[in-house]
Amino acid sequence: MKTTISEVSKYVGEEVTIGAWLANKRSSGKIAFLQLRDGTGFMQGIVVKADIGEEKFTEAKGLTQESSLYVTGTIVEDTRSPLGFEMQVTDFELIHEAVDYPITPKEHGTEFLMDHRHLWLRSKRQHAVMKVRNEIIRSTYEFFNDNGYTKVDPPILTGSSAEGTTELFHTKYFDEDAYLSQSGQLYMEAAAMAFGKVFSFGPTFRAEKSKTRRHLIEFWMIEPEMAFMDHEDSLEVQEQYVSHVVQSVLQNCKIELDTLERDTEKLEKIKAPFPRISYDDAIQLVKEKGFDDIEWGEDFGAPHETAIAEAFDMPVFITNYPADIKAFYMKPDPKRPEVVLCADLIAPEGYGEIIGGSQRIDDLELMQQRYEEHDLTGDAYRWYLQLREFGSVPHSGFGLGLERTVAWISGVEHVRETIPFPRLLNRLYP
Ligand code: 4AD
Ligand code: MG
Repeated sequence: MKTTISEVSKYVGEEVTIGAWLANKRSSGKIAFLQLRDGTGFMQGIVVKADIGEEKFTEAKGLTQESSLYVTGTIVEDTRSPLGFEMQVTDFELIHEAVDYPITPKEHGTEFLMDHRHLWLRSKRQHAVMKVRNEIIRSTYEFFNDNGYTKVDPPILTGSSAEGTTELFHTKYFDEDAYLSQSGQLYMEAAAMAFGKVFSFGPTFRAEKSKTRRHLIEFWMIEPEMAFMDHEDSLEVQEQYVSHVVQSVLQNCKIELDTLERDTEKLEKIKAPFPRISYDDAIQLVKEKGFDDIEWGEDFGAPHETAIAEAFDMPVFITNYPADIKAFYMKPDPKRPEVVLCADLIAPEGYGEIIGGSQRIDDLELMQQRYEEHDLTGDAYRWYLQLREFGSVPHSGFGLGLERTVAWISGVEHVRETIPFPRLLNRLYP
């Protein structure tokens, strides 16, 4: 019977065959321990000389790291391993012998590992991070599908900027200028007027020369947009969504979180509602924490965000930022037009901003005024303004950065380990 490591619990006491790679190996004179991986998981295979015979045992001892094999054996319970099972190997067949695999069990520097990302992905830790990423993706679709959202795909090639606050990648579109999308939001607003509640999930590009543990040049963003929902309604969607994702990972990625040595107690607590703090109060808080040079009207940097996050053991919404430091499309607070109806969601444990969202301006005149203030004239904006001409309604939306969310939930330090092939300031390879 051919099966996979993820399915072995169904075959206790039975003999099965698994196609696998040899991740690592230890052996003595009489017994060899094969660390097998097959893509679905990791499992130990035990080869006993007395059972398998002299010749096969010698062959097992000589197997090289990352060689591929068909391994046959009996599945037995093993309470010490995270998987809970191991294999008593009765036979194996070498498919392909790997010679001098570059990533050995010893420590390697980050640059070396990044240069070998195409192989590094096979390692137990990287595998665990990608499985957590996959569960976040799966539970994202689940959440929005179960809550009446329609997925709409905005374009990647665009004629103009969506954020105004970040740098764009320029390219030629035949004889026109084009840019890689930095956010699908403006298109999602059009989609919300057609479908009510929508979400997108796709790659976005930012040509900022940022070199921090939170910045990628190419990253994936989930962008929901909701007609007839105000800012507070949107915050409720956000906290429900993030709670759902965290609880899904806890439930479905136990082995991976164990591999990553993630402190799951901190994640267990992540349940809606999340605390909210106004920008004004956050400035006060940061000042009290010793950053006395920050003034009202300035944006928070990473150390400020970490200081704010430390005051809570939940993700925290910082609401109502000054209009001047936020994007042109955010709706001013009617009671205090110098601030906007927006929030950033700051993850715990120093992972920083994972969501940016706001209620959007729905008034045509005010939007036109913002365009003038931000020098955003030109044909490319005409269609966006038209959304305010025909049945404009209150609407809100947000963008969640997938990689920062993966970093936080997995507990990995740097976003470069949260995407299969990271695009960084100095890296376009592999
Ligand atoms: O705050 P941002 O720039 O918001 C927008 O783009 C809005 N148009 C979204 C919307 O309302 N539809 O980006 C949203 C999130 C951030 O909170 C962060 O998690 C992530 O995207 N992000 C990045 N992640 C990795 N690398 C970068 N360079 C990122 N820039 C933003
Ligand atoms: Mg932001």
